[in-house]
Amino acid sequence: MDRIRIRGGNELNGEIPISGAKNAALPLMIASLLTDETLKLRNVPRLVDVAQLQRILRNHGVDTAMSGKRPGENAANGENLNLTAAEIYDTVAPYELVSRMRASFWVLGPLLARCGEAKVSLPGGCAIGTRPVDLFLMAMEKLGAELDVDNGYVISSAKKGLVGNRIVFPKVSVGATHCTLMAATLAKGETIIENAAREPEVGDLADCLVKMGAKIDGIGSSTLQIEGVDRLHGAEHTVLADRIETGTYAMAVAMTGGEVTLTGTKADFLDSFIDVMDQAGVDIVSVDNGLRVKRRGNLINPVSVETRPYPGFPTDLQAQFMALVTMTEGTSSIRETIFENRFMHVQELARLGADIKLRGDTALVHGVRELRGAEVMATDLRASVSLVIAGLVAKGDTILHRVYHLDRGFEELEQKLSNCGADIERLLD
Ligand code: EPZ
Repeated sequence: MDRIRIRGGNELNGEIPISGAKNAALPLMIASLLTDETLKLRNVPRLVDVAQLQRILRNHGVDTAMSGKRPGENAANGENLNLTAAEIYDTVAPYELVSRMRASFWVLGPLLARCGEAKVSLPGGCAIGTRPVDLFLMAMEKLGAELDVDNGYVISSAKKGLVGNRIVFPKVSVGATHCTLMAATLAKGETIIENAAREPEVGDLADCLVKMGAKIDGIGSSTLQIEGVDRLHGAEHTVLADRIETGTYAMAVAMTGGEVTLTGTKADFLDSFIDVMDQAGVDIVSVDNGLRVKRRGNLINPVSVETRPYPGFPTDLQAQFMALVTMTEGTSSIRETIFENRFMHVQELARLGADIKLRGDTALVHGVRELRGAEVMATDLRASVSLVIAGLVAKGDTILHRVYHLDRGFEELEQKLSNCGADIERLLD
């Protein structure tokens, strides 16, 4: 299996292009199931998860086509992906496909709405927590679906179509909001989703659904009002910039020193993160083509954060933030409130010399003078990249194993970093 070798100590300087957001691209691709016309997505990141979801959608009968390169286009432009679900042949999402990517469970809503039936494998647990699906099931039942869980599958039907209803989520869930929103666009009558996730990726999906003919009010708020329509049509939509990739590279620059412009991204949707970085002593300012990142002094200040649903500090930046505050002169506390087991990177950061104590859902990070390179292993996507950015400042070589986690969510990571001066390479096996 491939590994990544990083020799720490180089500053980062230059530009890093930010890709389209994985977590927006995936639900947008799934939305193609709602119409028999073509959904044209622009700025789609080249990622393993995107390729895997194409396989899953093709299994349902969706034709997918990536268009070729046009003059003047380069890797930073993202892909154009056309998805056409003229006819859905198969409403089963099998275990071998769903188990590889949790987001594929979200096909449940669109399949029920368009075909009146779906048999979708339960996704199972994963490295960051148990991640149940009770909220999805509650919402689909409220929309009139009959559900049974058998043999590891959710078997659902709504032979006369889904019917709008008021759905109050007891807990904020990004996936359950995506799934319910998609289903409600084709349900009869009005659906109100309360305590909906406000993540920008939900807004991006809603904007695209509106382009497809859906009637949605309250986009960006925690109450979504959807008036069902008989059919949706094709549309063209550009995937929004990846705020997690933006935050990750900003923290990499904060660790190494230097000055980098993150292009193709904006401060919108990053308020809580930019505020935390300001407390840490890092300037992130808007410039014409993106965001410029520079550490104010030589040191990072200790800061305490708590992960929260949007607009709070994102759980998807927690591991990277932990890597950053290993380098302070003081103690930072990081409380993870979204996933119960998202601290798998703690042991690995400790292998690089970090001093971190876990107390329940809180990690106390005591700053150390320096990190030292070591062999480390990643357990999930964001944990992997936290080890990469720690490796950028660790003395000597860091070798990262299980690189496939990174390929799920970071496009051309080694190239983007090495273009700015990092000593990083992939070791192919
Ligand atoms: C999305 O996952 C993201 N994935 C995650 O990013 C992200 O960490 C997460 O939202 C939180 O922001 C994608 O967008 C593809 P949730 P999702 O449902 O939708 C509980 C990454 O690294 N819950 O908002 O699966 C759940 O266990 C990934 O890119 C229930 O209890 O997350 C968790 O504690 C990892 N019952 C909390 O809600 C349910 O039915 C929030 O999870 C559903 C969720």
